[in-house]
Amino acid sequence: MKERFYPYAGAMNPTVYEHLNNCTDPDQRLEVFMWEKAPIEGKQVLDIGAGSGFHAVRYVQKAEHVFAVEPDARMLQQIYARLCDNPLGNISILATSAESIPLLDGSIDVAYARFAYFFGTKDCWRGLHEVKRLLSPGGHFFIIDTNPDQGQLGTIAREVYPHVFHDRYRAEHSAFYQQHGFSHFDLQTVFRAPNRQVLEAYLRMDYPHKYTELLDQIESTELSYNMSVYHFQKRNG
Ligand SMILES: C[S@@+](CC[C@H](N)C(=O)[O-])C[C@H]1O[C@@H](n2cnc3c(N)ncnc32)[C@H](O)[C@@H]1O
Repeated sequence: MKERFYPYAGAMNPTVYEHLNNCTDPDQRLEVFMWEKAPIEGKQVLDIGAGSGFHAVRYVQKAEHVFAVEPDARMLQQIYARLCDNPLGNISILATSAESIPLLDGSIDVAYARFAYFFGTKDCWRGLHEVKRLLSPGGHFFIIDTNPDQGQLGTIAREVYPHVFHDRYRAEHSAFYQQHGFSHFDLQTVFRAPNRQVLEAYLRMDYPHKYTELLDQIESTELSYNMSVYHFQKRNG
């Protein structure tokens, strides 16, 4: 089966990647928004493209069980290291990709794919189909993406990677997900670094060819970060 494996730089930079997760939406506006629509207390949760497991470990504090799907061995190493530091019984790590998840039909109540660019507008029908298969009736699926039309971090992403975050990116994604039964929400959050060193390390990881230039343009250690949230709810019955 053809897989859409998109490696992320955080796989090779565990320390900086951990900083990135701590700095992104520190007020947890995203979780507040999603948990209002779909509470996870006592639920079966799926985190697709779980990265280092930062969020899976957060979800598991509330959920009954979390399945963390991650295909990159270097990310899996980070998840295992996190669990060695903080052993938890109600989390399962699945070393696989979104296109083929070895779980039963209807076994998941809430699924997340956070900054998971393998859910783009092309060729991702297999992954979408797989999540819809796994959802229980009434189950929820949230896809979280960068909004390159608004906010400082989105603007940087567009400036540095215009071939990815092009002018029609958000409109195309919104139309695509609408076609697949999703609603689209815009959410305003922030990226808050504790100091310039952390900000620099992050910019260097995600924008290696431009980070010094970017750093010169940025005065604060807090940047606005707007996100697009796509929400799907499976029909009951
Ligand atoms: C940008 S990172 C985001 C990770 C995490 N969700 C977070 O917010 O920190 C995207 C993750 O998706 C994983 N990934 C790439 N292709 C994938 C696929 N086809 N199925 C599932 N995960 C995939 C990458 O290895 C990486 O860990």
